[in-house]
Amino acid sequence: MNLWNRNFFSKKNTSQPDEPIEYQKSPITVDIHSHLLPGIDDGSADISQSIELIKIFEKMGYQKLITTPHVMGDFYRNTPEIIRAKLAELKIALQENQIQVEIEAAAEYYFDEWLIQKIEKEQEILTFGDNYLLFETAFMDMPKQFFAVIFEMQAQGIQPLFAHPERYHYLQNDFQLLTKIYEKGVKLQINLNSLNGYYGKGAKDLAERIIQLGWVSCLGSDCHKIGHLQHLHKSFEQPSFQKIPLDEMINHTITL
Ligand SMILES: [Fe+2]
Repeated sequence: MNLWNRNFFSKKNTSQPDEPIEYQKSPITVDIHSHLLPGIDDGSADISQSIELIKIFEKMGYQKLITTPHVMGDFYRNTPEIIRAKLAELKIALQENQIQVEIEAAAEYYFDEWLIQKIEKEQEILTFGDNYLLFETAFMDMPKQFFAVIFEMQAQGIQPLFAHPERYHYLQNDFQLLTKIYEKGVKLQINLNSLNGYYGKGAKDLAERIIQLGWVSCLGSDCHKIGHLQHLHKSFEQPSFQKIPLDEMINHTITL
């Protein structure tokens, strides 16, 4: 089934294919996790895809996007220079297409030796807002040096922001470990699509538990492709979403 033809994303009159599609407005106007820079990770492949995605964000009412390309030693050796150059290219294309959404870039760092070296050598790290460093890990196992590196980040004044903790199998199976991570001051960013079951029951359940406890600091689309945006509206209707104090989210602290 083509999701474009369902409910909020459907046209009022399907007999007129050129009629603009109507999008449900997002209650969140700042997104802090996405893969919209063209051709440097597994998100947008080229500039036309980037424009297509950002136009949808704009229709949903987003005003600012902090996009976060993967930085991963094995696959995506994106440096601050590469990311800044792609951002500049994208900003020109946004102007040419008269898109008003403001876009900035940070990164989503994979917790690997490449990141650890950068922290140890105090090399430039792309953060956003109040020095938040968005990071991810492998899905099955926690990195061995996790707590030592988190401690070092915090000692340097960096605030670690854990991308989609609800999606990791090792956390779905060990709530005590997540509790320890939270108590060490690691901020938790939930993917909006986790709330509608897009990533499965395990992720949905853990996201709901994190929200129930009031541990969520931040929400993200983690948009790589149009499909991710097509499902967002279902999350806004979830009881778990209604429990999130949106005014207290890091998204809300980002200046426009
Ligand atoms: Fe991501």
